[in-house]
Amino acid sequence: MIAIEWLCDRLKIIDQSRLPHEEVYLELSGYQDIARAIRDMNIRGAPAIGVAAGYGTALGANAIKTTDMNQFQKELSEVIETLVSTRPTAVNLFRVAERMKKVAAFGKDVEEIKKALTDEAVKIHFEEEKATEKISHLGAELLNDGFGVLTHCNTGPLATAGHGTALGVIIYAHRQGKKLRVFVTETRPRCQGAKLTAWELKQAGVPFTLITDSMAGYFMKRGEIDCVIVGADRIAANGYTANKIGTYTLAVLANAHGIPFYVAAPTTTIDFSLISGYQIPIEERSPEEVTHIQGMRIAPEGTQAANPAFDITPSQYITAIITEKGIIKHPLGEGIGRVA
Ligand code: MRU
Repeated sequence: MIAIEWLCDRLKIIDQSRLPHEEVYLELSGYQDIARAIRDMNIRGAPAIGVAAGYGTALGANAIKTTDMNQFQKELSEVIETLVSTRPTAVNLFRVAERMKKVAAFGKDVEEIKKALTDEAVKIHFEEEKATEKISHLGAELLNDGFGVLTHCNTGPLATAGHGTALGVIIYAHRQGKKLRVFVTETRPRCQGAKLTAWELKQAGVPFTLITDSMAGYFMKRGEIDCVIVGADRIAANGYTANKIGTYTLAVLANAHGIPFYVAAPTTTIDFSLISGYQIPIEERSPEEVTHIQGMRIAPEGTQAANPAFDITPSQYITAIITEKGIIKHPLGEGIGRVA
């Protein structure tokens, strides 16, 4: 399975919204198609949407007709604006946009800039792949043979366009021959755990147990969980971490049970422009994702529902952040500056 593949004039992605029932690939040739795929979560996961936005910028730039530099820059800004307006929480989108803008600021003519943007998109993809490979290897050192490991949401190759972050660690530890008892939370409301993590673990031959989000405390109390490992959508300079809704609950629970809580993320997920994690914008999604499951209403007509897609975990609950440049141990604040 290749989650995301650059075909020079278009981007091929696996449609994550149809997994695990159907393996359908989409070929996206316009930047608007890529923006729509990110917004509708055909492609999702912080590093993966960053990579897709890089290719989206390249496709958008290549479709611009003018050779006039000013006009080109104006149209390119619209392309980038469209791509970054898709999802607000994962910093990867904004990082990629900044990189692409920098590349576009140099170059003697439009053709040269177009080529440089495409090269940059390929480079971003390659870097994410390498970073997630390193994270998987480094993180696996924290997992002992026989460990019970709980993970949340989906952080595998699908979410990263690479090896995976938290799930990459689990899959790599399994490949090393460690026998793990993996607990996967279903991750309501969109069930990325039940749909995508379960699918990826099955593909990788890693045994796992699916639990509802509300069962985590029960299994921790029974002593079945030796560590929790999750990904991240944005980490502020103080180490406070935005990740899929429910992460904060798991971190507090892990703390109450004396269980290590790890965040695995590439350094591109760290946003030094934010002093506090509470400055991270939290995406509010449609209440229908809560009142309905698979399009079927489960709550009475007229029910008010809230749907914040992410939450913030304060750094005091995080035992360590696993990055491609090293493991940042608690307390995180200063350590983050050293690694990134
Ligand atoms: O809303 P999603 O499915 O894009 O959210 C994904 C997550 O929260 C992941 O945990 C996160 O992106 C980590 S990336 C490997």
